[in-house]
Amino acid sequence: MLLDTFGRQAVDLRVSLTDRCNLRCTYCMPEEGLQWLGKPDLLTDEEIVRLVSLAVRDLGVREVRFTGGEPMLRPGLVSIVSACAELEPRPELSLTTNGIGLARTATALHRAGLDRVNVSLDTLDADTFFTLTRRHRHQDVLDGLAAAEAAGLAPVKLNAVLMRGVNDHEAADLLAWCLERGYELRFIEQMPLDAQHGWDRSQMVTAEEILDRLHARFALTPEGAGTRGAAPAERWLVDGGPASVGVIASVTRPFCRACDRTRLTADGQVRNCLFATGETDLRSALRAGATDAEIGALWRAAMWGKKAGAGIDNPEFLQPDRPMSAIGG
Ligand SMILES: C[S@@+](CC[C@H](N)C(=O)[O-])C[C@H]1O[C@@H](n2cnc3c(N)ncnc32)[C@H](O)[C@@H]1O
Repeated sequence: MLLDTFGRQAVDLRVSLTDRCNLRCTYCMPEEGLQWLGKPDLLTDEEIVRLVSLAVRDLGVREVRFTGGEPMLRPGLVSIVSACAELEPRPELSLTTNGIGLARTATALHRAGLDRVNVSLDTLDADTFFTLTRRHRHQDVLDGLAAAEAAGLAPVKLNAVLMRGVNDHEAADLLAWCLERGYELRFIEQMPLDAQHGWDRSQMVTAEEILDRLHARFALTPEGAGTRGAAPAERWLVDGGPASVGVIASVTRPFCRACDRTRLTADGQVRNCLFATGETDLRSALRAGATDAEIGALWRAAMWGKKAGAGIDNPEFLQPDRPMSAIGG
């Protein structure tokens, strides 16, 4: 098991498949992109499958989420999913994606064994999409969402980050749009994980503001205490339910006490927290011929040292060296 000194058990593994992305969201990456990892630094498809297998078989991992960068840019994605779907016990398999390319691959991913997708979409307006992402790909995302639904990747979840003065006026519109389509919407508070260190606490749209904007159009009832588990999103029933909306308030209402995540970067480093300042190098061990038992021991030790909380809202908070896109969001 992957335990830490606070008694938490990590059962949810986030695997970054690449640090590259085809969008340039202003809150994530600079316009010119970043210094990408070289191919020799990236775990191969076989190395990823070996580490996921070991995590599922020996370390108690039950859910595997592929992310990035943009995981759809990884050529081996479908075969990685397919290999992970054969594992015993079978983990739940999901993908966090910007949706570009899903129109083409949603069916193949579903057939390979992918259970669910989370698609990131911050706006319903094509021009605002360009302002936020610096790319004209809004329609591709909408097509990807429709394809995911048609392929049976259910439920389709949508992640949205609100930026002040850019798309924060769209909170209620985004929810209405998702309700019409049966998508589950979750807002994520903007976090200090951008490569350009442009995050400004005073400019961040808080969970409270998001909820105020939603309350103006919808009746929201908190989902009962105890239903949240280790989920980062606090959820509200909309207009009496059954539809709900979530808010991930990583900054203003952190959920670290229930955190059940472990992370593997595209270059084979384990991180025990999105905001960890240290990493454990599994790739070198793997390539030096370590056994599964030795790698498992390294992974367990990495998780044992997990801090009580990320402490983003503390004055002494330090942003990690690697940005979200390189860690795996
Ligand atoms: C880093 S992306 C990686 C996966 C994929 N490319 C996608 O768009 O979903 C994962 C999620 O992190 C969110 N994200 C990126 N930077 C963020 C930040 N600074 N604060 C909060 N969320 C952020 C994105 O909006 C997206 O929903």
